[in-house]
This record gives sequence, C-alpha cells and structure tokens, in this order.
Amino acid sequence: MTTAETLSDEKIASYRQNGFVHIPGILSPDEASEFYDAAISAMARIPKNSARPIFDQYVNVWTQDEGMKRLTFHPNVAQVAEKLAGVPLRLWHDQILTKAPHNNAATEYHQDQPYWPHANATHPISAWIALCDVPVEKGCMTFIPGSQRRTDLPPQSLADPRSLMDIAPDFVWYSRITVPLKAGDCTFHHGRCAHMATPNFTDDPRVAHVVIFTDADTIYSGKRHITTDPLGLETGGPLEGDLFPRIGDYAR
Ligand code: SIN
Ligand code: NI
Repeated sequence: MTTAETLSDEKIASYRQNGFVHIPGILSPDEASEFYDAAISAMARIPKNSARPIFDQYVNVWTQDEGMKRLTFHPNVAQVAEKLAGVPLRLWHDQILTKAPHNNAATEYHQDQPYWPHANATHPISAWIALCDVPVEKGCMTFIPGSQRRTDLPPQSLADPRSLMDIAPDFVWYSRITVPLKAGDCTFHHGRCAHMATPNFTDDPRVAHVVIFTDADTIYSGKRHITTDPLGLETGGPLEGDLFPRIGDYAR
C-alpha cells in the first residue's frame, strides 16, 4: 500500500513535473472490493447528476452514503494528495464516474479547473481511484504531461475530440501517457493537467471514484457550478463551509 509515510520523493517530483502520478495501492484489495460494493449500492439509490454516453456522474456522494464517505475521507487519499500538492488543501467535491459496458464513447481531452468557480487556486488535485481493474479497454485515463502549466485556457468540451486541440494546438505535439489501473490503484492529477479516458469496450461497468481537493485558501469566483450554486456563497469570499472541510480538520 502507498501511504503519506511511504510516498517516495520520486513520486512527488514526478507529480510536480508532469502534473499527474500513478500511485499503486492507495487502497488494499479488500478495501477496493468493499468500496466497489458501496459504489454499486450507492448508484442504485442516489439520483444521477448527469447521464451521458461518456459516463454517468454522481456528485457529492459522501453527503449521501456512509460507505462512500469513508472512501472520500480515507486518510491515505487525503494525506497523499496534500503531500503531492505541497500546500494545505480542502475537499472540493467527490464523484462516482461510471462508464456503462460498451458505452462506445471516450471522455475527450480536457482540463478540469476551467469548469470550477475558483478564482485563485493554483494546486487543485484530483484522486481518480479505480474500484475495479481498469485496463485500457475498460476506460482508463491518458494524460498530457506538462499541460498543467497552461493555466489560461477556457473550458474545453469532454464530448468533442477536437475541443482542447483546437484551443491549444501545441498540445498536438506533446507526448501522452496512458495509465491502466488495478483495483485499489489511483492516479492523482493537477486540475490543469489535460486528460481523457478511453471508451469501455468490456461487458462490465467501469467504476471509478474521484476525490477532488483545492487549495485551502481558495476564493469563490461566482462561476456557476452544481455544488456551489445552491449555497449562497459570497463572490470574492472564501470557499468554505461544511461541504469543503480542510484536510487538516479531518478526524485522524
Ligand atoms: C473519466 O473517468 O471518464 C474522466 C474523468 C475525468 O475527466 O476526470
Ligand atoms: Ni476531468
């Protein structure tokens, strides 16, 4: 297993250089199987926030399901994220992302942060946790190393294969790294590191849980977002409240 204590300096350097890193065994095999079952039972109960060919999305499941809450607040996930980022973090939101069997649709290249109402955050980091084995044929992630340095780009479409490359044509010539994951493995990626996920060509669902953190001192920009729209936060004020606990305040 990889914990904050066993996380190597090489992994931290690799994350900071490339904008993503592969962390084997963020969960034990038993935990991965327990959280796979928790995700399947949560998805049977909780309404979807979006159902598209590319994936079904269930946002902030930690507020609706005790089993998934244990995963979102898993100390390995949060503490490894904070060590990789190198600054204090808070939870932004979580989501189960599942690709149906034979969904026939890639998640196209995009950066995540342009979608978020964060005025100043420079260290956003997402943990993409495989709850089942995710080989390339089942919808694993591909990253564009170094793309996290482009912090000026507008939102790109997850459904349009040309969107990011039209907006940032130099990325056509960047190398790409595809990272199949075993159940319990995860990748961490910076909110500006461009990524895509292949279609699920298999007979089983691809089940991933994504836990997203942002700088503890993030300022709310007022941009529309499903998690913040109902909250009445003050634009220009801190992103804070019960939905966005600081990692340092998690029960240890
Ligand atoms: C996916 O899992 O299909 C995409 C995840 C992401 O865009 O972060
Ligand atoms: Ni993304």
